[in-house]
Amino acid sequence: MDTTERAASLRAGMLERFRERIADDVAEAMLTVPRHVFVPGVPLERAYGSGPVVTHRDAQGVPTSSASAPGTVAGMLEQAEVRPGHRLLEIGAGTGYNAALLNHLVGPDGAVTTIEYDPQVADAARSALAAYGADRVRVITGDGTLGAPEDGPFDRILVTAGAWDVAPAWREQLAPGGRLVLPLRLNGLTRVVAFEHSDHGLRSVSAHEDGFIPMKGIGAVPEQEVPIGPDRELTLSIDDERPVDADALADVLDSEPHIVWTGITRPWAWTQNVDFWLASLPGFCRVFVNSEAVAAGQLPRPKDMWGGSWGTFSGGTIAYLTARRTGGTDEMPIFEVGVCGLGPQGESLAAQVVERITAWENEAGDRVDLTIEAFARDDEAPTGDGHILVVVEKKDNTFIVRTTV
Ligand SMILES: C[S@@+](CC[C@H](N)C(=O)[O-])C[C@H]1O[C@@H](n2cnc3c(N)ncnc32)[C@H](O)[C@@H]1O
Repeated sequence: MDTTERAASLRAGMLERFRERIADDVAEAMLTVPRHVFVPGVPLERAYGSGPVVTHRDAQGVPTSSASAPGTVAGMLEQAEVRPGHRLLEIGAGTGYNAALLNHLVGPDGAVTTIEYDPQVADAARSALAAYGADRVRVITGDGTLGAPEDGPFDRILVTAGAWDVAPAWREQLAPGGRLVLPLRLNGLTRVVAFEHSDHGLRSVSAHEDGFIPMKGIGAVPEQEVPIGPDRELTLSIDDERPVDADALADVLDSEPHIVWTGITRPWAWTQNVDFWLASLPGFCRVFVNSEAVAAGQLPRPKDMWGGSWGTFSGGTIAYLTARRTGGTDEMPIFEVGVCGLGPQGESLAAQVVERITAWENEAGDRVDLTIEAFARDDEAPTGDGHILVVVEKKDNTFIVRTTV
């Protein structure tokens, strides 16, 4: 088998992992466009593996550009519903792979403009697109937060870096009836949201959980990390740069942890938007717990090990979600969810979080459908149907997250 045949066979294998979740046109594009051409020098097996392919890192080794995981790419294309003849804008050209897929989907009557912040990355994307024969894609080197008014309005805008807000330019350059798809971080929780224009602003038509490399440039708002304890036993990750009294939190480890169990048992992967339910708690954040502190019995394990466990802080007190195994099998273990409180008000803050989780269990259960609306900050946000989970004020927009249950 030569390289072309091997790549085609690996592409088919890559697609099998999520074929039933995507439409025929997206599948056909992903079977056609050779992903390996956009990650030169990477072994074929890795180019067609299930994970992202990191192509650039900063001085600390943190990824700054990648070809997103194939399942993530497919999910976004599915949400975007790109059609032949569409005018498209992509923010975050990266390797150029997604732009090539978009170019395939819009066909000869459509047009694709993609913007890349990092000039080196933009050059590599141009070369890869030319090598594949998709050089009619226009690659702009610049800050995608400003969009590309000279090429708009656009039927679809896809943002492939993690955004903290909806840039006014994206809303303005989105054609009537158009769709904006972006990974949006609200109170530290990221959903890939497909927005359409509504009477007053933007309203989501779908929202899925996924993770992305954060946006750079004028739209960048880094998450604030607050380390606690001599060995960083705890780290709070807070959505924005609001002032935090780190001195007040410094003594939080001096008191014994206080756990309140909820009586709620779930398989490990339990999320179902309960995170947004908790996101209205003042001080909502993600809490990372050092695994050595857990192994030493100093702190209870966090419910979620990798992305941080949901939690909240208030003054010198912290509460975070924990879990203990109560049954199930090794493939599908069942855990009871609890809340660990630390600091002078640990017990009452833990009880407050438990009350919120219990309300979620009673009112919503596993049936929470999210709708996210964005209103320009200057406009008054109208009230509407459904139960408001959280209202998040950003620089340019007010976001209202509702559940239809
Ligand atoms: C996950 S990668 C994009 C993957 C890409 N779509 C592909 O198919 O390979 C995110 C990219 O967004 C770029 N980026 C970050 N902030 C940006 C901004 N403000 N404007 C344009 N590009 C940006 C990063 O440099 C990085 O290359």
